[in-house]
Amino acid sequence: MASLTNPFSGLVERKLTKEELIQAIRVDIVGELEAIFVYDAHVQATDDPFAKKVLSDIRDEEKAHIGELMTLLRHLDPEEADHFAEGEEEVREMMEQLKIESPKKDSNTSSTTVGSLL
Ligand SMILES: [Fe+2]
Repeated sequence: MASLTNPFSGLVERKLTKEELIQAIRVDIVGELEAIFVYDAHVQATDDPFAKKVLSDIRDEEKAHIGELMTLLRHLDPEEADHFAEGEEEVREMMEQLKIESPKKDSNTSSTTVGSLL
C-alpha cells in the first residue's frame, strides 16, 4: 500500500512490461476481492439500514471493478482467458452430471457475476 506521507511513493522509474502489467492486474483483482469481503463483512455487522445500503452499493461497485479488471486481463493475456473458459466449462459439465441447474437471475440484480465474467 502506498505511504500517503511520502509524496514520491507514486512515482515510478520505468513503465511496466506487459508481463509485469498482467501481474499487477492480478494483484489489483485480489485487492478488489478483499474490498468486497471487508464491505460485505461490515454490511453483515450492522443493523443500520442506511449504512447497509451505502456499504452494499460500494461493495457492488467493487464487483464491477473486478469485471473491468477481468476484461482487461483477458485482453492482455488471451491464453489465460482460455484457461478461465476451460475451468468454467468443467464446472458446467459437473453441474450437468449432478443435474444442478444454474440459479435463475433476479431481474433486480446485476446481470453479471464474478463467475460470469470469467
Ligand atoms: Fe475497486
